[in-house]
Amino acid sequence: MIDWCRTYPYDVSRHYLSDFIEENKAPTPVGWHLYEDNNNFSDHTKELRAEMESLFDNPLAYMGVWDYFPGFIDDLGPHIDRGDVENAVIFMVPSGELTVTLHDPITKRILESRVLCSDDIMILNHTKFMHDIQGVGELVVFGLTKDFDAEMFFRNDGKYYTRNKLKYNVDDLRQEVLDLYPSDDKVMTFNYFPMSKGHTEYTWTFDPLPEYMKRIIEDTTGEVLVPDITYLSDFRDTGTDLDIHKDPRWNSLGRVPPKLSMVCLGAYTKVCFWTGRNGTKLMDYCLYGPGDVITFDHTEVFHSAKSLLPKHRKINMQCYSYGDESVPFVVQYEDWKDKYGPWINDFGVDIDNKALATFMTFKDYQIVAVSSISPTGAVTVYGYDYSEKSDVAHRDWAEDNGVELEYKI
Ligand SMILES: [Fe+2]
Ligand SMILES: [Fe+2]
Repeated sequence: MIDWCRTYPYDVSRHYLSDFIEENKAPTPVGWHLYEDNNNFSDHTKELRAEMESLFDNPLAYMGVWDYFPGFIDDLGPHIDRGDVENAVIFMVPSGELTVTLHDPITKRILESRVLCSDDIMILNHTKFMHDIQGVGELVVFGLTKDFDAEMFFRNDGKYYTRNKLKYNVDDLRQEVLDLYPSDDKVMTFNYFPMSKGHTEYTWTFDPLPEYMKRIIEDTTGEVLVPDITYLSDFRDTGTDLDIHKDPRWNSLGRVPPKLSMVCLGAYTKVCFWTGRNGTKLMDYCLYGPGDVITFDHTEVFHSAKSLLPKHRKINMQCYSYGDESVPFVVQYEDWKDKYGPWINDFGVDIDNKALATFMTFKDYQIVAVSSISPTGAVTVYGYDYSEKSDVAHRDWAEDNGVELEYKI
């Protein structure tokens, strides 16, 4: 499924666009009130353009302004743009209020409307969906060049993640969460893998998570929350990049459920999803901002994250659920010795130090088998339950690494 638009909270007013437009307006024959392309962008919009290019990870082709003055009739009506030089457009309304409406391309029936003012920006999939604009105000349009992958950006098929809009005012929730900030000794800091070098995350666990917050998040995601492990992930004034990783099913705090919902209370992040085979091919990505809730399987899908506007304070509530998981699953860690060595030994297994890869099979969240692949390709399975899923994981790994398997179950 492809979305027709996305909106993000963004304070347009701090760029003083209306003053800039008033001083520099130069109407063109095609109807732009002001038009600049990437050969002659004004200095005034430099910071704004840098932020947009960072948010959407793509250069801008042009900036154009339409003046929807009182009584203005946009005779274009509902239309689909050709997109001669751009693959998507960013809309912002520095003054006034404009309504962007989605129409059925055949019957032109109204399907959905979004109102834009200076608190939000919109990115519109303008070459795929029929739309029109009405109201009184200034419409500033930035075109994203042809390199912009609109198909991936607007995808919302739920294959690697799902996106929901928080069913509560995000500014209120942010304040209510900050009011619960505990004393410093309860705040933990993380500055090691998968955090990028030099970056620090401050976290604390809700104790307890207020019942109404649990309800809001469950209403938003449709998932049943495991309440006692919900924590706040706060990056204060640091950058927040995360390297490509999968999370383990266990950590120092105990069992970790497979589904993670990130409730974004501040800043903008690009989260990328990589192939589950070896984490080298980008499968999907999404940009999320305040009020977006992104849910995905953080233990089976490789993921990484990049802060897009590092000056904004990134705050997420990190919430977990089991989803509908009931089947055995397999995890593979090449660094198992560091992370799981003692724990696997507890299971009564002493795996050869030279093993190329180690796999663990779980059922009902309990370990039921451990297996390893030796340098000669010999697969050894320890434990009493071994599933087809484990088999597939071994075969995938062997194919990716050019190893011929030899089973010794
Ligand atoms: Fe348009
Ligand atoms: Fe993660």
